[in-house]
Amino acid sequence: MTASALTLALRQLEYTLDTLGPDAFPGDTSTDQHYQPRRLQDSAAGANVGWTTGFWTGQLWLAHALTGKVKLRQAAQRQSASFIARLEQGFDLEHHDLGFLYMLSCASAHQLTAQPGAHAATLGAAQRLLSRFLPGAGVIQSWGTMDDVEQRGRVIIDGIMNLPLLHWAARASGNTAYTEAARSHLRRTRAHLVRPGGSTYHTFHFDAHSGAPLRPSTHQGLADDSCWARGQAWGVYGFALNHRHLPEMNLLADAMQLADYFLAQLPPDRIALWDLSLPHDSGEPRDSSACAIAACGLLEIAAQLPEGAPRQRYHNAALDLLEALTQHCAGRLPASGGLLRHGVYHRAANLGVDEATLWGDYYYLEALARVAGHWTPAQL
Ligand code: GLY
Repeated sequence: MTASALTLALRQLEYTLDTLGPDAFPGDTSTDQHYQPRRLQDSAAGANVGWTTGFWTGQLWLAHALTGKVKLRQAAQRQSASFIARLEQGFDLEHHDLGFLYMLSCASAHQLTAQPGAHAATLGAAQRLLSRFLPGAGVIQSWGTMDDVEQRGRVIIDGIMNLPLLHWAARASGNTAYTEAARSHLRRTRAHLVRPGGSTYHTFHFDAHSGAPLRPSTHQGLADDSCWARGQAWGVYGFALNHRHLPEMNLLADAMQLADYFLAQLPPDRIALWDLSLPHDSGEPRDSSACAIAACGLLEIAAQLPEGAPRQRYHNAALDLLEALTQHCAGRLPASGGLLRHGVYHRAANLGVDEATLWGDYYYLEALARVAGHWTPAQL
């Protein structure tokens, strides 16, 4: 299954590259099942703006590592150069998604080709992420400028996926402030965004000065107290990745608890509804991207467990999810049809509903590459 699924996924990726060219970044999601050059804010079509462009460059780096194709490397290098420029210009960086943006582009560019400027840009991005740490609250603020009254002290579960950038910077610089910020953020995320039973809140508000826990809320979920499927998946993979760097926190236990909850909520076809609190017969759309992220998380959990039944169980669960994704969601449309169909970006805002998503495509490809034994772990 995996080898043919991987071949198909790589073909879809090349279709999009050939259709859009090496410099244009696709939209966050496909539009009517095909990616177009992104149009966000007032930027030119295809510009490097928003939180998801790293998933496109990351796919190109991963595909190059898998195939050795020069065309893929050249496109990934050109795009990584645009990430270096974006940092120099300070363009659209007032958010925590610097980990997604710079680990998948510049850290990979440095690791795979020692691209000039890529190491410095990754470190610069990490400094920016660290500057979002609120010492009184012990968390990294997720969204908005640091004086944004709405967003001040707010944390979203997705944030722990950006922390590998801090671990990378700690290793590159020897500065333990990166590690301590990550540790504190994880401690507070574990205490306030994970509920008893292993489900998660999407976001949580802390008092920025005292650190007092204020209230949970959601942005993309069904309700403040529901369990947004992609948030749960970010939690599974995020805790598992951070466990590698902070084993003394035993974050693998959190990753496993969240994974068990995620798996228990899946409908019979194994593709999660966009919110895990929705009844399976609600007729609401699936979010395949949540399952792709969860599959990577399950593989990461299995990779860190010793030989034995639990390791096998998580590995098998990942293979089950991948098989379901390939069967029900693998993209087979030419031009710019994407790797993984049937994702949801933001249901309530009617954004990217039942479309391919750049992050779903990226994690589907990463999971297939992991199973094939070819994953290049820039983020570890
Ligand atoms: N991190 C934002 C999202 O998953 O939509």
